[in-house]
Amino acid sequence: MEELLSVKNVHMEYSTGKSKLISIQDVSFNIHKNEFVSLIGPSGCGKSTILKMVLGLINPTSGTVLMGGAPIGEDNSRVSVVFQNPALFPWLDVQKNVEIVLEPIMRDREMRKETALKYIKMVGIDGFEGAYPRELSGGMKQRVSIARAISTSPELLLLDEPFAGLDVFSAQALREELLDLWLPPDKPPHAVLLVTHNVDEAVQLSDKIVILSRRPSTVIDEHPITLERPRNTRSDEFYQTVDEVVRTMSP
Ligand SMILES: Nc1ncnc2c1ncn2[C@@H]1O[C@H](COP(=O)(O)OP(=O)(O)OP(=O)(O)O)[C@@H](O)[C@H]1O
Ligand SMILES: [Mg+2]
Repeated sequence: MEELLSVKNVHMEYSTGKSKLISIQDVSFNIHKNEFVSLIGPSGCGKSTILKMVLGLINPTSGTVLMGGAPIGEDNSRVSVVFQNPALFPWLDVQKNVEIVLEPIMRDREMRKETALKYIKMVGIDGFEGAYPRELSGGMKQRVSIARAISTSPELLLLDEPFAGLDVFSAQALREELLDLWLPPDKPPHAVLLVTHNVDEAVQLSDKIVILSRRPSTVIDEHPITLERPRNTRSDEFYQTVDEVVRTMSP
């Protein structure tokens, strides 16, 4: 399998006044093309920090993060991100909120319009192109964020607890839709890195779960999930797998 992302011996410390805080001791893992990987671990262990490194926003104190074998530049346009709180521009309607990320990569206005609309349809909120964020539910706002993130055809999609703010039913619907978007291997995104606290969610979606320890963090386990897709979240095997992961997290 082709290696898309490689996090190698990443170490991260912050100086807070006189003392220093080591958030990440030593973390390594890889993501291959067509792989869905979840990153789970206690609050403060550096999950969001790792995503920021992949986005090229910060550098590790030591260690490397490589994409396609090359170091990540300051603005990593091969990657998109969806956060827990949809970061939409309140003064722009849905259509414009998606179009705005296409501006740097698509010169033609008509093309931007068509592309935005295609992804708005794909996430099931067509008919709301002219709506403003304040007029949308949490789930709909998150759909706009997802449309925006995938409209640039990223190779790797980063998700930082994207379903955590939603009610159970919206979260489940959106998880399934996200899987449908991701599954065709010939279409971007070619891989997903999901940060979550929800073990059921990680088992439902992932090919592999990277389990981090408490801060200063290391990788406790890389747990492959081999359950057949589409996954039955009520089967005995599913519950067993969830149980294995939970036990690994809290030995
Ligand atoms: N700019 C910064 N300056 C100092 N410390 C920071 C900075 N950014 C993050 N940290 C610290 O690094 C640690 C890891 O933070 P991070 O946000 O990556 O954790 P996390 O695993 O995403 O946690 P959560 O599950 O709560 O989102 C935390 O202890 C945090 O306080
Ligand atoms: Mg975080």
